[in-house]
Amino acid sequence: MTCSEENVKKTPNHVAIIMDGNGRWAKSKGKSRIFGHQAGTNNIRNIIEVFASLNVKYLTLFAFSTENWNRPNKEVSWLLELMFKTISKELSDLNDNGVKIQHIGRLDRISSKLKKAIENGIELTKNNSRIVVNVAFDYGGRYEIIDAVKRIRLDNISPENITEQLFNKYLYTKDTPYPDLIIRTAGEMRISNFLLWQSAYSEYYYTDVLWPDFGRIEIEKSIKAYSERVRRFGKLES
Ligand code: IPE
Ligand code: IPE
Ligand code: MG
Repeated sequence: MTCSEENVKKTPNHVAIIMDGNGRWAKSKGKSRIFGHQAGTNNIRNIIEVFASLNVKYLTLFAFSTENWNRPNKEVSWLLELMFKTISKELSDLNDNGVKIQHIGRLDRISSKLKKAIENGIELTKNNSRIVVNVAFDYGGRYEIIDAVKRIRLDNISPENITEQLFNKYLYTKDTPYPDLIIRTAGEMRISNFLLWQSAYSEYYYTDVLWPDFGRIEIEKSIKAYSERVRRFGKLES
């Protein structure tokens, strides 16, 4: 098999998505931003199924960043409520479909009601293995790294034992391999504090499509683009 044949067959093991553009989607329809967030959230269930059917084993979804708290109070409380409602509504179906839910991000700034709902979802689905879905909620890459450094210090780890492998164990993503492909919707070309450490060698894919419109066709396009990339990891092509 030639190098390019191998590449075409390659499916990413871990896809991470910056789900952006809910507000613009709503605006284009003359609706409120909140309507856009609802539409974006409704889309999640479908795309999990599409990725699972394509044999992607890990999916990380950026739902709320550490910086999103700086939006108007009304939008923030709606996003928190939407997260709670979505877990309550979707959990049993996700579980029946073999989805293992994990959370990455802070749990110390959300209500105990939402925290319990997230923990309950993780516990209920922990033995599933069809696809792992990491929900990045109150997630920020810089905070994640600082938090890891603090805990390494508290564990009195001596400097010579601090390796990449050890550092990984202190990140929220300790049970997840590095992302192979990072997709951002809605035309922005920035990382917005997402998976800073983990994305060192990820492939990036950007599309102008707004998150609520991102579906199977777009997913297949992104996977095709990925399969045509040559990942060198600093080495020379063989
Ligand atoms: C992404 O959509 C969802 C969150 C950041 C919570 P946005 O709300 O950022 O949508 P735009 O970027 O304003 O269109
Ligand atoms: C990134 O989108 C965060 C999420 C998708 C949850 P933002 O809309 O917050 O990013 P910026 O502000 O445009 O960089
Ligand atoms: Mg945005």
